[in-house]
Amino acid sequence: MNILIKNGTVVTSTQAFNSDIYITDGKIVQLSESLNILEPIDNTINASGKLIFPGGIDPHVHMHLPTPAGYSADDFEIGSKAALLGGTTTLLDFVTPQKGQSLIDALIDRKAEADNSLCDYSFHVSPVEWNKNTEQEITDCIESGITSFKVYMAYKDSIGLKDDDILKVMQIVGKAGGIVTLHCELGDDIDKFREELGQIGKLSPKFHPVSRPDYTEADAVKNAIEMAKKANCPIYIVHTSAAESVKYIEEAQKSGQQVYSETCPQYLLLNDSKYIGDFKDSSKFVMSPPLRKKEDQNSLWSAINKGVIKTIGTDHCPFTLEQKEQGLNDFRKIPNGAGGVEHRMTLLFSYGVLQNRINYNQFVDITSTQAAKIFGLYPQKGEIAVGSDADILIWNPKTESTISVENHHQNCDLEIYEDAKTVGVPEIVISNGEVVVEDGKLISDTKGRFLKRNI
Ligand code: URP
Ligand code: ZN
Repeated sequence: MNILIKNGTVVTSTQAFNSDIYITDGKIVQLSESLNILEPIDNTINASGKLIFPGGIDPHVHMHLPTPAGYSADDFEIGSKAALLGGTTTLLDFVTPQKGQSLIDALIDRKAEADNSLCDYSFHVSPVEWNKNTEQEITDCIESGITSFKVYMAYKDSIGLKDDDILKVMQIVGKAGGIVTLHCELGDDIDKFREELGQIGKLSPKFHPVSRPDYTEADAVKNAIEMAKKANCPIYIVHTSAAESVKYIEEAQKSGQQVYSETCPQYLLLNDSKYIGDFKDSSKFVMSPPLRKKEDQNSLWSAINKGVIKTIGTDHCPFTLEQKEQGLNDFRKIPNGAGGVEHRMTLLFSYGVLQNRINYNQFVDITSTQAAKIFGLYPQKGEIAVGSDADILIWNPKTESTISVENHHQNCDLEIYEDAKTVGVPEIVISNGEVVVEDGKLISDTKGRFLKRNI
């Protein structure tokens, strides 16, 4: 399949220039103005007046995540379709083994679950316990193309690890040249607050943020940075939400430590006033960490601008109202998480670029290029250059939309961005050299590939 894109403005993380793009067999093969192609072309696309971005990379999604309230509402097929429609062509999900299961067996099982993904994908693998085999299992995963490992400082009763074990994971991964990603929340403090709130009957969703004050994130970030320094291991802090956390991350970066950080659209755009309201309206915002304050949002935007926060993930993990209702009388039983994979790009364009909080190059950097660089996919992904995968968005910067549960493609009857006005859509999405979205409609069911990543 040969595709020629003509007359567009290509925007990368560092440049913007007018260029045609010629694509053959899934790769970008020529990139320059006024290309004259002599061989037969299957599809010529006129991108005049449009912006051309690299396909988005969402470094943090949870498709088909098992929880006590059932699986998260999007499986890989539905979630990846929603992702493509929103301009995200690559997903990084997670492998979370059962206790006693080896990391590599869990990776094999998870690959099978992701087999119906339409996006290309890889995983961060989570050691949920430390035993005599863990070191070898991490090495086996690296040989299978996994370069990032996720540990949870919260959820101590299930998948969380104690600090001593986190340190061991960091030492092994650091030595092997990989990266450890961390869910930073002080699990023990949070468990204590949840218990105390339960004892005095404070169990409606508005007590969810009370049980997870911002210091529980910031102090966990500080501890994670200290452990990573000791272990000489690069780390990536997922879903940073609190201003205080940003300070520790910035300080570590200034000292030369390899500390990367991600935030999510919900922490940039929504605040804790959302927890006031009836169960249906407030429970959909129950996620961890919780939504914070306006001042935290300002600090996160500023951190993006300074390059302290490098990437935007969504932590996409939708649950239906019926699932959320497991916690109707007790917020501690509400499954944590919300959807967002479909809206990440347009939200960042609308509320970032068009509100002058970030420029076009930063938009590309945080939605695509940095994730590729940090997680061993660059320049195959995250770039528009000769030799890169032809994952390309032809972006109409003027199209206006309103996000709603009525028109989203996520398999969920709840929408945390309900009524948000957006400007800018991926009118055409090309994934691995094939047009998969045209006029905002999915027109392909080609499966994505598991991406082997490099250290
Ligand atoms: O609330 C959240 N973030 N749910 C998804 C699972 C996790 O903790 O990342
Ligand atoms: Zn997550």
